[in-house]
Amino acid sequence: MNIVIVGAQWGDEGKGKVIDVLTEDADILIRYQGGHNAGHTVIADGHEFIFHLIPSGLLHPGKVGLIGNGVVIDPEALLDELGKLQARGVDIIRAVKISDQAHLIFPYHKRLDLLEESTRAGRIGTTGRGIGPCYVDKVARCGIRVADLCNPKVFAEKLRQNVTEKNRLFELLYREPPLSYDELLARYSGYAKQLQSHVVNGVRFLHDAVAQGKRLLFEGAQGTLLDIDHGTYPYVTSSNATSGGVCAGAGVPPTVIDRVIGVAKAYTTRVGEGPLPTEFAPALMEQIRTKGKEFGATTGRPRRCGWFDAVVARYAVIVNGCHSIAVTKLDVLDEMETIQICTGYRSGGRIITEFPADLDVLARCEPVYESLPGWRAETGEAASFEELPAAAQRYLKRLEALLEVPICLISTGSKREQAFKVGCW
Ligand code: GDP
Ligand code: IMO
Ligand code: MG
Repeated sequence: MNIVIVGAQWGDEGKGKVIDVLTEDADILIRYQGGHNAGHTVIADGHEFIFHLIPSGLLHPGKVGLIGNGVVIDPEALLDELGKLQARGVDIIRAVKISDQAHLIFPYHKRLDLLEESTRAGRIGTTGRGIGPCYVDKVARCGIRVADLCNPKVFAEKLRQNVTEKNRLFELLYREPPLSYDELLARYSGYAKQLQSHVVNGVRFLHDAVAQGKRLLFEGAQGTLLDIDHGTYPYVTSSNATSGGVCAGAGVPPTVIDRVIGVAKAYTTRVGEGPLPTEFAPALMEQIRTKGKEFGATTGRPRRCGWFDAVVARYAVIVNGCHSIAVTKLDVLDEMETIQICTGYRSGGRIITEFPADLDVLARCEPVYESLPGWRAETGEAASFEELPAAAQRYLKRLEALLEVPICLISTGSKREQAFKVGCW
């Protein structure tokens, strides 16, 4: 079975943990969009690993990971991640493949990301990793790909054109010093030597894997509401984080996808700017942020937290075609007396249940809440749905009813063991 995992909220839903749990049933793990703006946490045998570009299932020996063509790769960040995993005893060097069609991030992308953030009227609160500007170059058809990096003559020429162009922007528009072409050429030529052995034709690689009956697990980064088309634009990332991004970003046809699983926290979080209709008031924000350790895995920024928003999650189910949902961080609600679920928005005297595209409308929406009793008991040791407190079961059943899809996995703690599959498995 070939499975797609996507974030059903604003990212950080616990996709890394879910991928790690599901990797036992997969052979090839694939990232298909985003870059090292992602931070996917896996806690195995008491050790924490945060994956940025490398697929999160690779702690399992014998698995192979592909960084697909839709990913934007900062070679420095990738080599750093590879080196750190290797140093921690994870045998990863031969396991990581890179598509020759993936685009590369350069220091000028990162610099532009930061400059654009500091000069734009409404900040997005990007991760500052150069993700957006790299995708801009890809779409503008001046980007530099992994295949170019592996061809010294082509690379030198493309880099010269890009550095010339970007330096013009830095000097004339931003009054910043230029970047050195020679320094960048030398640095990236070094990266080419170190990465060359990982480079594959991604389309052929996955096509052959499918022909050999290998099981694919696609790992979405970010989340549905951060998707460039379907998210809270412009407060989004610059790629298709939804399941629709898999085909373009990995080079596989839609017919290879058997199952789509959305990952949602039992509440909601977001990092950076943009609407979050169910955002908590300060006291509850502090409580949940502390209990849920809601600080970004990539940037360390505090995450904004709010109640579960069923309008958002139902929208994610529809956009992604989710067959089921994995619910994470149920344990973070263990102490709550009452739990709220947002079932709609009150807007101009009527109640809407469709997520509005117009952020102006969204800004004027008031969440409509349904209250459920909390369970006031620890869930971290539960190994099955039946072992959960009755009120927790009721909460999850209500989410299923609102989302109109079954829950297939429940996570009640950050450790690998603190998750169990439910029902439809
Ligand atoms: P991702 O980007 O979707 O992979 O999620 P992140 O790794 O950025 O953030 C999820 C955070 O929640 C990480 O610190 C995980 O270790 C942690 N986590 C995942 N599942 C659970 C859970 O069920 N309970 C608790 N308490 N923490 C969890
Ligand atoms: P994972 O994969 C949460 C957010 C940033 C910002 C917006 C645009 O760990 O879930 P970008 O640097 O991508 O141009 O920033 O997107 N963002 C994330 N938020 N989780 C992520 O990844 C994110 N990646 C980007 O905070 O609001
Ligand atoms: Mg994350």
